[in-house]
Amino acid sequence: MKLTDIIKDVLVKQDAVMHPRPYYNHSVSFKNTVSSEERAEMLERVGLNVFFFPSAMITGCDLLSDSGVTSMTDEQWAALHKGDEAYGSNRGYYLLKDRVREIFGEGFFNDPGEGMPNAFLFHQGRACENALFTHLGKTGKALLIPSNGHFDTTQANIMANRITPVNLFSPALTSGRPDEMFKGDIDITELKKLLGSSHEHMPLVYLTITNNTGGGQPVSMKNIEEVAQLVHHYGIPLFFDACRFAENAWFIKHHEPGYDKKSIKAIVTKIFSFADGFTISFKKDGLVNMGGGMFFKNDGLFVKKFPRMPENILDHQILTEGHPTYGGMSGRDIMALYIGLHTVMREDYLTYRIRQVRDFGDAMHAQGLPVLTPIGGHAVYLDVNKFFDGTAMKPDGFGGIGLCAVLLAAYGHRACELGYFTFGQYDQEKKEEIFPRVNFVRFAVPRLRYEKQDLDAVVASLVSLHESRGKIPPVEVTYGRELALRHFKARFRFKK
Ligand SMILES: Cc1ncc(COP(=O)(O)O)c(C=O)c1O
Repeated sequence: MKLTDIIKDVLVKQDAVMHPRPYYNHSVSFKNTVSSEERAEMLERVGLNVFFFPSAMITGCDLLSDSGVTSMTDEQWAALHKGDEAYGSNRGYYLLKDRVREIFGEGFFNDPGEGMPNAFLFHQGRACENALFTHLGKTGKALLIPSNGHFDTTQANIMANRITPVNLFSPALTSGRPDEMFKGDIDITELKKLLGSSHEHMPLVYLTITNNTGGGQPVSMKNIEEVAQLVHHYGIPLFFDACRFAENAWFIKHHEPGYDKKSIKAIVTKIFSFADGFTISFKKDGLVNMGGGMFFKNDGLFVKKFPRMPENILDHQILTEGHPTYGGMSGRDIMALYIGLHTVMREDYLTYRIRQVRDFGDAMHAQGLPVLTPIGGHAVYLDVNKFFDGTAMKPDGFGGIGLCAVLLAAYGHRACELGYFTFGQYDQEKKEEIFPRVNFVRFAVPRLRYEKQDLDAVVASLVSLHESRGKIPPVEVTYGRELALRHFKARFRFKK
């Protein structure tokens, strides 16, 4: 009997959970041995602000962010050696140009010296945002920029330039309908209303794919298409915050009718056919530790509406980052990005990546932990209010901050509050907190870094913490309550 016939019989019995990782460890890093008492002392010293906690003392999983913490592949490490650190027109720049064209579309990266400059490399995403909104802000009008959910640095950069950010979260995000997909969509009804009343104040409309602030939820192609038609009708450019574009494409392929036979590449091409420009932090789906970019479509509405913008951004880039052929990146980082952008489009990688995050969230859910479902692409979001149900925790006790501090000190896992403290504001006149709609602790999963055993340990720690949630006291803010981007800087202590 032929072996190919034998395996046909055997393979049908294959269990759905038999999915080994599509990669193996190339190199590993050992952690230090640190006691929970040592961690608790250190956390108190840094005012319970987990951002200031030394990573070398983390014995569990560091799920503070998925940004810039990817474990690079052997090909990327090898590519670093091919980095060309020439001041002008390094080798990697041309490779990256071809890669950007291949993935996002020909019109997003003109040859240097030919056509208008339309591709700008920056050291990370927020530097692109800073450049974009600085120059839009200079147009001097009362502007507003709607989005399906501005990321915190995006929102801060918009506001720093006296532009008003408007978040039109999908009603599905807060509907409580657990199985509803594409909760990252923009609220089309609200967008229509806003366009009707204020379209002349909108320099562009921004879609964040996937929607990090909105639970890491994907945006559907239907929504992208509808938004593009709507805003283009008013002559308004559509921009993407495209950090997790490949993960978003994977969700479209696997969950939106009509896309299951399409390749990730075809879906990405279609997504970007609707964009007039985009900003991207390559620290996510670029699979690199540093890097960002801003791209304007050659014949898109953005450059038609703001013909001076390419030159303005070019000048800004030269003043603050570097020559346009490397911008804010080193030649070696450009080489790692060139490879990373290829790897991120692999279907086996994306399937494993998204399944790992989903399994992590499903395991929490199965244990009765209140997580936002369906699980998003890069992180699991724990509902803080539901977690503290049945306890005396009040909104201004900032349970999410306390939960993160106790989790880190007791079990060595680092997560981050994205809720009442991070997105809230202190009204100095009324001396009261203004609370946002959502109150989460986010467990962001770094790419290619942890194994199932590591994430299972986080779930087990949370189950145990949930059982003793009544013992987590409220915190008080000892510094920084009134500051912008206060979660990065504030200090807390547990109330007695
Ligand atoms: C959706 C989104 N936009 C923008 C940024 C900012 O990128 P960077 O951290 O590279 O400045 C992030 C970072 O996490 C993000 O998630």
